[in-house]
Amino acid sequence: MKYIVANFKLNGDLQFIKNYAADLNLQVNKPTNMMIALPNVYLHLKKHFVKNSILIGAQNVSEYQKGAYTGEVSAKMLSDIGADFVIIGHSERRHVFGETNEQIAAKVKIALQNGLKVILCVGEQLEEKNKYRFVISEQLKTALKDVDLSNVIVAYEPVWAIGTGKVATTKDIIKVHDYIKQLVNKKFNYNVPVLYGGSVKPNNSAEILALSQVDGVLVGGASLNAEEFSKIYLSQF
Ligand code: PGA
Repeated sequence: MKYIVANFKLNGDLQFIKNYAADLNLQVNKPTNMMIALPNVYLHLKKHFVKNSILIGAQNVSEYQKGAYTGEVSAKMLSDIGADFVIIGHSERRHVFGETNEQIAAKVKIALQNGLKVILCVGEQLEEKNKYRFVISEQLKTALKDVDLSNVIVAYEPVWAIGTGKVATTKDIIKVHDYIKQLVNKKFNYNVPVLYGGSVKPNNSAEILALSQVDGVLVGGASLNAEEFSKIYLSQF
């Protein structure tokens, strides 16, 4: 079963998320490997999603354990509130908030130490398209060094495809996913699942999910509508 992951980003409010959970309950019955990343303050709403066996997670975590870091939320805090997983290194964290590969590596470590599954995002920017191998290998080698990979999922998200409506071609997806899988296997001796993200919608998800190199999808915009997100989930069958 493929991983179908929603990333709400900075969207939704209390009522929206309660309604969304109710809608989702009507659309899909106990989905497997469905994951939803909510804004931190709504993680306690996990109980509304339990009927469907959905994993609930956060979109970011502090690289620090504790201390004088105003505004940060630690991995232990996420775990205490019931988060199952955390997205780390999303391109918006890297490029809007300036997170470095080293910070992302620290976040991956601390999240895993606190029992959270990690979805590690990697991907090249438009101007880096012809050196994607270099960019992605730096991202992966730094973030995955000395960690137990059994709780890590990698998401390949070409930055130019996020929120733009421009999906990578299936040829490109196959090429980059093969590259990531081979690199992680060679370097860390592990077969890591790799998701695709970037303008995934109900009208293109079946084609993407049919690729054997694709272990699932990470969905932003289209995940904000429970019916659309359910359609994406169901399109794998
Ligand atoms: P999008 O976002 O589906 O809106 O392109 C994907 C993501 O940012 O994870």
